[in-house]
Amino acid sequence: MLVTSEQLMLFIEEALKKVEVPEKDARTTAESLTMANLRGVDSHGVLRLDTYVKRIQKGLVKANPAIKIEREDNNSAVVDANDALGQVAGNLAMEMAIEKAKANTVGVVLVKGSNHFGTAAHYSMMASRQGLIGIVSSNTTALMPPTGGIGKVLGNNPLSISVPGGSCGEVTVDMAMSNVAMGKVINYSQQNKEIPLGWGVDKDGKDTTNPKEVQNGGFLLPVGGPKGYGLALIVEILTGVLANSLVGKEIKSMYAYEEPQKISHIFMAINVESFIGLNDYNQRVEQLLHYIKNADKVSGVEEIFIPGEIEKRCSEKRAKEGNNLSEELMTELNTLAQELGVEPLKGGN
Ligand SMILES: NC(=O)c1ccc[n+]([C@@H]2O[C@H](COP(=O)([O-])OP(=O)(O)OC[C@H]3O[C@@H](n4cnc5c(N)ncnc54)[C@H](O)[C@@H]3O)[C@@H](O)[C@H]2O)c1
Repeated sequence: MLVTSEQLMLFIEEALKKVEVPEKDARTTAESLTMANLRGVDSHGVLRLDTYVKRIQKGLVKANPAIKIEREDNNSAVVDANDALGQVAGNLAMEMAIEKAKANTVGVVLVKGSNHFGTAAHYSMMASRQGLIGIVSSNTTALMPPTGGIGKVLGNNPLSISVPGGSCGEVTVDMAMSNVAMGKVINYSQQNKEIPLGWGVDKDGKDTTNPKEVQNGGFLLPVGGPKGYGLALIVEILTGVLANSLVGKEIKSMYAYEEPQKISHIFMAINVESFIGLNDYNQRVEQLLHYIKNADKVSGVEEIFIPGEIEKRCSEKRAKEGNNLSEELMTELNTLAQELGVEPLKGGN
């Protein structure tokens, strides 16, 4: 079912307002979820709305949090989100980091007591779209073992770095620390297809190509083996430890509906102009990107992409044609609409 971004935004906003989220915060959250759908990151789009609403209804996420700036100086701040929606705390913190970087080269804002904040690129791109470098990360519920280990020990902690990209817009890396998302394993399982070695392990930590073994007690693996494990651990320290908050297995799943998640995020902005004039910077980046795009290609490859380029193209396409939501998701959203008493989401085909 094709749904326009305007329809999606309005629907998310109205649903969140029904559970007492103030209009401005509902819009901020709607922007993040809609942007994810537009960019083709459907796993972090409107698919999450039902869970957000249910967590608010259960009092695990606060619709009207008392967000507090605990400490602040010219370059840094610590924000206690007081169980706010991750997007609400995230937007505020990234805006603070950007202002600090504009005035004093670097801004670093740490957030604690937060929730799932959606796609990390939403925040890093707030910086790059203003000519700054944005670096954003978060811890998550534990989903993967350390290299050589068994069990859900570390989050697949997302990291996004976005830099201004001259006439290309931005260069945006946005990734989880697991080799693949669990959604991809489930997809293969539904099609009775084998997964490539390295995507996941069985419950004993042994390599498997059987997706069902990963689903039933197995685990995802860190991207790039020990390198992804190392990065996930560092993110855990830069977020949960620096914020003196929860880490690893202490963070409950957002689907467990047991207690507030107390997730921590870090938002950093760096002012390009403290190092090089923006015009010179853009010229150099454009040269570099041109050189990469024109690299020799492996046979069968038609085009080399810059990180974030596939998502940008998807965004342009979906802005024109609409976002394709599965029948299953439409049913879930319209059941939610009925429960909340908001207009159902209508789409074309
Ligand atoms: N909030 C959370 O707790 C949480 C946790 C995990 C992931 N996430 C989000 O999930 C989303 C998906 O993460 P993912 O790891 O599945 O991403 P992915 O594997 O789809 O993409 C990772 C990166 O690779 C780039 N890329 C992909 N194909 C490319 C190609 N052919 N050429 C050049 N670059 C290419 C993409 O632009 C992207 O920057 C991200 O938005 C991330 O922030 C959020």
